[in-house]
Amino acid sequence: MEFIIRNYDGQSDKAQVEEIERRCEVDPSESVFLSTDTMGDPICRILNSPMYNVLVAEMNKDLIGVIQGSIKVVTLATTHDLAKVGYVLGLRVAPNHRRKRVGSSLLQSLEEWFCSNEVDYSYMATMKDNHASISFFTGKFGYTKFRTPSILVNPVNYNPLRISSNIEIVRLKVDQAESLYRKFMGSDDFFPDDIDCILRNKLSLGTWAASFKRDSSWDDFGNNGPVPSNWAMLSVWNSAKIFNLRLKEATFSCMLCRKSQSLIDKVFPCLKGSALPDFLRPFGFYFVYGLCCDGPLCGKLVSGLCKFVHNMAAESEDNENIKVVVSEVGGRDKIKHHHIPHWKLLSCQEDLWCIKALKNNDEALHKFHELTNIPPTRALFVDPREV
Ligand SMILES: CC(C)(COP(=O)(O)OP(=O)(O)OC[C@H]1O[C@@H](n2cnc3c(N)ncnc32)[C@H](O)[C@@H]1OP(=O)(O)O)[C@@H](O)C(=O)NCCC(=O)NCCS
Repeated sequence: MEFIIRNYDGQSDKAQVEEIERRCEVDPSESVFLSTDTMGDPICRILNSPMYNVLVAEMNKDLIGVIQGSIKVVTLATTHDLAKVGYVLGLRVAPNHRRKRVGSSLLQSLEEWFCSNEVDYSYMATMKDNHASISFFTGKFGYTKFRTPSILVNPVNYNPLRISSNIEIVRLKVDQAESLYRKFMGSDDFFPDDIDCILRNKLSLGTWAASFKRDSSWDDFGNNGPVPSNWAMLSVWNSAKIFNLRLKEATFSCMLCRKSQSLIDKVFPCLKGSALPDFLRPFGFYFVYGLCCDGPLCGKLVSGLCKFVHNMAAESEDNENIKVVVSEVGGRDKIKHHHIPHWKLLSCQEDLWCIKALKNNDEALHKFHELTNIPPTRALFVDPREV
C-alpha cells in the first residue's frame, strides 16, 4: 500500500505521533536508553525554534512516520561566516514499516523545504551506536560525520554543594549576557545569530558569571570594561517545562549488574551514603548552555558555576522534579569537560553530528570541504532549543 507525506496537523495527529514515538522506544534494536515524555505534545522541542516544519507519513489514514526540522542562522568558525542551517530531529518510522523508504521520503521532503528556504547546510545528531540512523544519513543521504561533542549528565543530590568562598557569582542582565556572548562566543561553531531570542525565551532561567573576589569587577564587563583575569559564564535552560526523561528499566538493571553500588559511589562520590535518584519515574532536567571561560584558573570557576546550577536544581519547585543537570561540550574542549561534574555512567561521550551541503555551486562545496576536513579550533555552541 502507498503512503503519502503531508504536513503535521497539531489537532488530529498528536496522539498518533506520540504512539509512533512510544513504539520506537520499545523497539529492542534501539540503542537509546533514556526515553522522553513529551507531556502530550510530541513536537514540543521544536516549538521554540524561529522557523520549523513537521511532516508525517500517512498510509491508509494511519501515521507510520514523522520528521521535524528547524532553520536558523549560525556562525561557522572554520569558514568564518554566517550560514543558514537546517536541523533534522525526531525522525521516527514505526518499526513494522521500516526499510520501505518511508524514512527516505520524509527526509527528502524536509530537505526540499530546507532548499526552498535557501538553507546552506542540513545537519543532525545521533548516538554514535545508532547504526541504522548512521547508515541512513551517511550511507543513503550523503551526510558527513562532523563533530562528536560529549553529553555530560550530573545527578542532583538534594544536599547543597559548597562553593569556594573566594568565588563571586553574579547574575547578568539579558542585554549584558547577549553582548558578552557575541563578544566571546560570536565566532564559535554554530553560535546562533538569534542568541537574544534564546536568552529571552521563557525556558531560559538566566545567565550567571563567576570571577575570583578582588579580581576586577563585572560591572562594566559588557561595555568594554576591564576583563577579570579569570572568568566563566553560563546560562540555564529549564527543559522540564516541555518534556521529561525516564531511564528505560532494562538499561537501569543492566547498568546496576555491570556496576556495583560501590563503584557508582566512586564514580559519583556525592551520592555516597545516599540512595540513587529514582530515574525510573519521569524527571526533569536543566540544560547548561553558553558555557565559556578564560584565564589559567578558570576551571575552578566553571566548577563553581556548575555547583551553583546544581544547587538551583536541588531547590527547584517540586513539580519540576529536576533530577539531573545536563551539558554538552565539544570533544576538544578539555577544560570544560574536566571541570563540569558528571556521572560517566549516564553521560554520552560521543554524540555524533553529521552535516550535508544543500547548495552545489563551487563556493559552497569548497566551504563544505573546509568545514568537514579542518579540525575545529573553536568551541561548539549547543543550542538548548535542539536538546
Ligand atoms: C533510521 C530510520 C528512520 C530509517 O527509516 P526507514 O524508513 O527504515 O529507512 P528507509 O527504508 O528509507 O532506508 C533507506 C536506507 O537507509 C539505510 N538503512 C535504513 N535502516 C537501516 C538499518 N536498520 N540498518 C542499516 N541500514 C539502514 C539503508 O541504506 C536503506 O536502504 P536499503 O533499504 O535499500 O538498504 C528508522 O530505522 C527509525 O525510525 N529508527 C528509529 C529512530 C531513529 O533512530 N531515528 C534517527 C535518529 S534522528
